[in-house]
Amino acid sequence: MANNLFAKKPLSLLLEEMKGENRLRRVLGPVTLTSLGVGAIVGTGIFVLTGVAAHDKAGPGLILSFVAAGIACIFAALCYAEFASMAPVAGSAYTYAYATLGELFAWIIGWDLVLEYAVGSSTVAHGWSAHFQDLLNSFGIHIPYAFANAPFDYNLDTGQFFATGAYFDVPAIVITAIITAILVYGIRESAGFNAGMVIVKLAIVLFVIVVGAFYVDPANWQPFAPYGYTGISFFGYTLFGQTGAGGAPIGVLAGAAIIFFAYIGFDSVSTHAEEAKNPSRDVPIGIIASLIICTVLYIAVSAILTGMVPYDKININAPVADAFAQKGLPWARRLIDVGAITGITSVLLVMMLSQPRVLLAMARDGMVPTSFFGAVHEKFRTPWKSTMLTGFFVALMAAFLPLRILAELTNIGTLLAFTIVCAAVLIMRRTNPKAERPFRAPWVPFVPIMGILSCLLLMFSLPVENWWRLFIWLGLGFLIYFGYGRRHSVMAKMRATEAANLQAGEGVK
Ligand code: ALA
Repeated sequence: MANNLFAKKPLSLLLEEMKGENRLRRVLGPVTLTSLGVGAIVGTGIFVLTGVAAHDKAGPGLILSFVAAGIACIFAALCYAEFASMAPVAGSAYTYAYATLGELFAWIIGWDLVLEYAVGSSTVAHGWSAHFQDLLNSFGIHIPYAFANAPFDYNLDTGQFFATGAYFDVPAIVITAIITAILVYGIRESAGFNAGMVIVKLAIVLFVIVVGAFYVDPANWQPFAPYGYTGISFFGYTLFGQTGAGGAPIGVLAGAAIIFFAYIGFDSVSTHAEEAKNPSRDVPIGIIASLIICTVLYIAVSAILTGMVPYDKININAPVADAFAQKGLPWARRLIDVGAITGITSVLLVMMLSQPRVLLAMARDGMVPTSFFGAVHEKFRTPWKSTMLTGFFVALMAAFLPLRILAELTNIGTLLAFTIVCAAVLIMRRTNPKAERPFRAPWVPFVPIMGILSCLLLMFSLPVENWWRLFIWLGLGFLIYFGYGRRHSVMAKMRATEAANLQAGEGVK
């Protein structure tokens, strides 16, 4: 029984399966993959969450928060790149866990990736709606409040939920429906759509850096870390640094745990491995190049933002755009709003593209029903049924749940996935030392160990409620695994056939 839970999917089987039917089209090169990476990365994190992180958690130390979160991601990215080059199939971290840690861990991570991609998409759709409404408001157009927000939110100061007075968020539903339709239509079209939006948002980010530099007052960088440099707690007990209102840790690391959201997405490049023309070379390039580009841009934007406006005057809803408004440049505010909407749209596109592909990999293994999640559209060659289901759930969550809760849940889920991938690289190097690794993470075991430690550190810098939400989510996942996946998995069927053959063989004797 225990052995079955940890049954591993052989690497050779993974590679063999890639040659079968029902494959996705190989159309993506290194530039498109990097563009998909940047498309998935620059969005709600930099345009929205920097406000809360600078104002409430880190002050100008936000610059260091971006460095800290960036370093954790670079360790994880190197590990992702090694796996993506070894097993370039659609499932990303899920597939890597199946090959190294066994079926139960694979399920845990597949289920956990739903937090990253589907819950992350809802977070992003919410952020899109907020910016879209802000832009409409600037033209004097207002969506009725009842249809402009989630019905409840969470007050950090009191630790209580409260009613917002709205019913649900209509713009979030509309954008999710549009993206779902584009994704069902096909990957080539989606990648082209993404490239256009990436160019627009990079232009806006560069605009912020270049124009904003003229408005920086270095005095705003003092005090540099008003809440301290750390901010780590252990299930509600602050270990290092200060405790803010509501008992949550504050400081540079606590800021890093929030703006970690801004980096999520580089790993989604690995979910496109099956659609890459030369996956073992191009996927590592896509992962690492997109992460490096974004890290540099983020550090620059956070330095400009905190240099333009004193940290306690930074706006929480539209921090970057508002900084330009505060400097008497309302036209720039509108321009940045357009950039934010564009940027956030492409994040939504890539994240919603990734979720069905993880489900597709799980369906091929029998972990979720194959007839539904494994169905690839005859004409479009896209996993259309699960794309539509993903769209439905993303719209539902974005319409009814508050942004902050969705963002933190996404972060803790993604950090867990990164931790498991780093551990899997360590294990795979021992169990399969001779396997072909077109890309090798450097300095193993240092890099994966640092990846594990830095991700855990960020997890402990998040408010404690997130741990409870993560445990509840995983508990639900176990129910589904033991109720369905465990009995239907391809590996379970293989074991049953082997056992039957063995018995038959003994019978003959
Ligand atoms: N990194 C993505 C964003 O900032 C998820 O929106």
